[in-house]
Amino acid sequence: MLKKIILTGANGQLGKSYIKLLLENDYKVVAVDINTDQLAEFGTDLEVTKLDITDPIAVNQLFNEHSDVYGLINNAGIGVFTPFEDRTAEEFMDVVKVNLLGTFLMCQGAIKRMKLRSEGKIVNIGSIYGVVSSDPRIYGNSRRNNSEVYSISKAGIIQLTKYLATHFGHVNIQTNSISPGGVYNRQSDDFVRNYESKTPMNRMANPEDLHSTLLFLLSASSNYVNGQNIVVDGGFTSW
Ligand SMILES: NC(=O)c1ccc[n+]([C@@H]2O[C@H](COP(=O)([O-])OP(=O)(O)OC[C@H]3O[C@@H](n4cnc5c(N)ncnc54)[C@H](O)[C@@H]3O)[C@@H](O)[C@H]2O)c1
Repeated sequence: MLKKIILTGANGQLGKSYIKLLLENDYKVVAVDINTDQLAEFGTDLEVTKLDITDPIAVNQLFNEHSDVYGLINNAGIGVFTPFEDRTAEEFMDVVKVNLLGTFLMCQGAIKRMKLRSEGKIVNIGSIYGVVSSDPRIYGNSRRNNSEVYSISKAGIIQLTKYLATHFGHVNIQTNSISPGGVYNRQSDDFVRNYESKTPMNRMANPEDLHSTLLFLLSASSNYVNGQNIVVDGGFTSW
């Protein structure tokens, strides 16, 4: 029987590339997103669930329907780009709600079911900005600067990963995170130039750069890897 993976944020840039990867590698994929309009292209190979990961009732129902979940990829995430001085409490809490509460609820739902089978893999998607602060010089006058709350939330995801690793490793659930560097997605030429100049490999990431790490963390090859944050950033955080 194919192993079942629940993937959140499936409708986004990276989510869609992960779906393709997982299907090609013979996983059964349940694609979860609050917006599912771009998922029809995958046809009947994909099970799609439209769901807000911050809704505890909907999340619990999802895991009732998929109590045989083998892997969970917490990829849904949002940011906010207004200047720090203008940040409203509402904007701040929106990011915390999706990135932290949503990830927490999904992990809780998965772990309750994985525990019963003494097997499970959780991969949380962090960010380089959960590890280092962003350099405002990269963003220039674009008014698209990374926010403090995005960074705080990603650091929180890395810490949640360690908590779950230490509390559920004994029931054979491995929890790890991947912290990607910036992925090219038609950003402005100025931004791309600035970002590349800070990256030892002199380029932004593409979605495929993240694939082998994701497959590794879902596979039996990582059965003794637990609580790690694997940074995939071309060396951005290594200076
Ligand atoms: N793209 C990058 O450069 C980059 C770099 C580092 C980390 N990341 C992280 O990778 C992940 C995916 O990034 P992306 O670039 O594909 O983003 P994206 O914006 O393209 O996709 C995010 C998806 O999450 C979904 N989502 C948002 N709120 C939700 C909710 N409440 N419930 C369910 N789904 C919800 C959105 O609808 C969207 O489809 C994010 O966690 C992001 O922080 C991205």
